[in-house]
Amino acid sequence: MRKKIVAGNWKMNTTVPEGVELAKAVLAKSAEVPAGVGLIVATPFTHLTEVAKVVKGSRVELSAQNCADKVSGAYTGEVSAAMLESVGCKWTILGHSERRQYYGETDAKLVEKTRLALEQGLGVILCVGENLDQREAGKHLEVCTEQIKNVLYNFSAEDMKRIVVAYEPVWAIGTGKTATADQAEEIHACIRKVLADKFGAKVADDTTILYGGSCKPSNAKELFSRKDIDGGLIGGAALKADDFIAIAQSF
Ligand code: 13P
Repeated sequence: MRKKIVAGNWKMNTTVPEGVELAKAVLAKSAEVPAGVGLIVATPFTHLTEVAKVVKGSRVELSAQNCADKVSGAYTGEVSAAMLESVGCKWTILGHSERRQYYGETDAKLVEKTRLALEQGLGVILCVGENLDQREAGKHLEVCTEQIKNVLYNFSAEDMKRIVVAYEPVWAIGTGKTATADQAEEIHACIRKVLADKFGAKVADDTTILYGGSCKPSNAKELFSRKDIDGGLIGGAALKADDFIAIAQSF
């Protein structure tokens, strides 16, 4: 059985003291979430060490939002997978559309980043999703299929045990426009099929596929009721512990 997960992507929000308070608030309410639901907080790099102390030994797991495509060395401003592992990170998000759009993240770089993260024992939350033009041109399935193939077809069935996919339609991120449950389910089912074609039905069936994009307490229940939607990658609503926890209670 694949795992249900709700992950909060804090993006570039909160100072370190604010982030510590947010993590404490999430932790304090985490007992209200059914035991089978995985809880992850993806903080800015600067927050990881302090938030790691807060969530240590709890069910709340720590994630980064990115990692370098190089092992170590003269790469000013970059943070390596080994550095993340060393501060207690269990996960990293990779390929978020904001990184693809503003920082030139390519599928080729994502292959390297995924490889290095897995080598350090990190789990990877790989984001895919179409933009509005691609959706309006009816190319959403094609775009997501290509993104999945370009990155994940370079890995093994064994690697897939530590990879979560997040479908995040760019037009739904931070816009208040959520994909309908039908729109999301169509893509999630397609992603699972693309994974099954390469890795077999069992691996595809065991892979957690999250939805992200204006997910909130009021729409999470309907989204999470669909067969192939295994939870959410939450942006804005993850900055309020009550909302984040309410989403995680929506299964
Ligand atoms: P919002 O929930 O703010 O739309 O952001 C979604 C997202 O990008 C999570 O990674």
